[in-house]
Amino acid sequence: MALHSVCKEGELAPGDKKAIKVGKEDIIVFHLDDGYYATQARCTHLFKKMTKGKIIEGDKIQCPLHKASFDIRTGEVDKWANFPPGIQILNVVRAEKALKTYPVTIEAGEISVEVQELESA
Ligand code: FES
Repeated sequence: MALHSVCKEGELAPGDKKAIKVGKEDIIVFHLDDGYYATQARCTHLFKKMTKGKIIEGDKIQCPLHKASFDIRTGEVDKWANFPPGIQILNVVRAEKALKTYPVTIEAGEISVEVQELESA
């Protein structure tokens, strides 16, 4: 695991999010009312980047493409793809899948995300 700096504490307002890239991984860091969380940025449905997704109900990220939503704290699916009507037909081949989550640490006022180093071949 390696720490990757996101921003200073205080730069990310409560209810806000920030996208970062670590190697090939796109990550979103969220500031919820009880702390900071990080998930993969790509929706597990059809891989749309959710950097422009909405935070709904205070703790879920909603994909802007087909409106799947995920619990930001756990990455679990809240609602699977449901827009436009009929998109559910794809669910036969695109089963529900949780988002990957990453530990977030705060040290000396600096917010960082822990990301597994890719093993070199
Ligand atoms: S790509 Fe996110 S819900 Fe379809």
